[in-house]
Amino acid sequence: MQLIVSPGYEQVTASWFSPDFWGRSAAPVSAGGRGGAWFIESDTSELVLRHYRRGGLVASLAEKTYFFTGFDRTRSTAEFNLLRKLRELSLPVPEPVAAITWKYRALWYRAAILVKRIPGAVTFAESECLEEATLWAEVGALIRRFHDEGLDHVDLNCDNILVSRGRIYLIDFDRCRLRAGVENSADAEWKRKNLDRLYRSVEKRCSRLDSEKRATCWASLLRAYQKKSS
Ligand SMILES: Nc1ncnc2c1ncn2[C@@H]1O[C@H](COP(=O)(O)OP(=O)(O)O)[C@@H](O)[C@H]1O
Ligand SMILES: [Mg+2]
Repeated sequence: MQLIVSPGYEQVTASWFSPDFWGRSAAPVSAGGRGGAWFIESDTSELVLRHYRRGGLVASLAEKTYFFTGFDRTRSTAEFNLLRKLRELSLPVPEPVAAITWKYRALWYRAAILVKRIPGAVTFAESECLEEATLWAEVGALIRRFHDEGLDHVDLNCDNILVSRGRIYLIDFDRCRLRAGVENSADAEWKRKNLDRLYRSVEKRCSRLDSEKRATCWASLLRAYQKKSS
């Protein structure tokens, strides 16, 4: 087992990663997850606990186990370190609290992460400002800031964009990476793929806008994305 804890959270133990440990202070996240996330109310802060799982139709046995190639390379360690870097770059992402890796049999592991909950956050599609083109433009400009820093968000969708008190955050950086140098050219393929993925999610999740409205909103997002951020 390996536990990594952020400064200021030395009280965190391995038990914190078990929803049962929290009893009524843990509540499953209903919006936007795949069933492995809980909101936690600790004595001092509100947290989100996430157990790494494969999405989709993978057989249940393999659902939570991953092939182990070293504690520094597990899903939880990678996301924890990436969140730290993104915060150093002043990008709006949740604060990482702790990450755990449990070795499971000789070659496998399970993993989980704790992050600070963004107070009052709703997912992008749930935002009451969804009909306002300015919200879409802010999302476009924000994605551009992440892209300029080289952040390839491999699961950019409406559930991984949160809105809280008029501010926008990106979350869920499992398998994401920072690309540097030649990999981070203005016309890099991964940037287009991130946006294509978000577009498909918008079509599914933002059905309360009619298709014409969706098209204008999406155009606002793209326009703001394409504008060089100063
Ligand atoms: N830091 C956070 N603050 C508030 N809500 C969060 C936070 N992290 C996750 N959530 C909520 O939990 C859902 C699932 O979390 P996420 O990190 O996207 O995991 P996954 O998609 O793998 O289940 C999100 O769509 C969001 O509704
Ligand atoms: Mg997600």
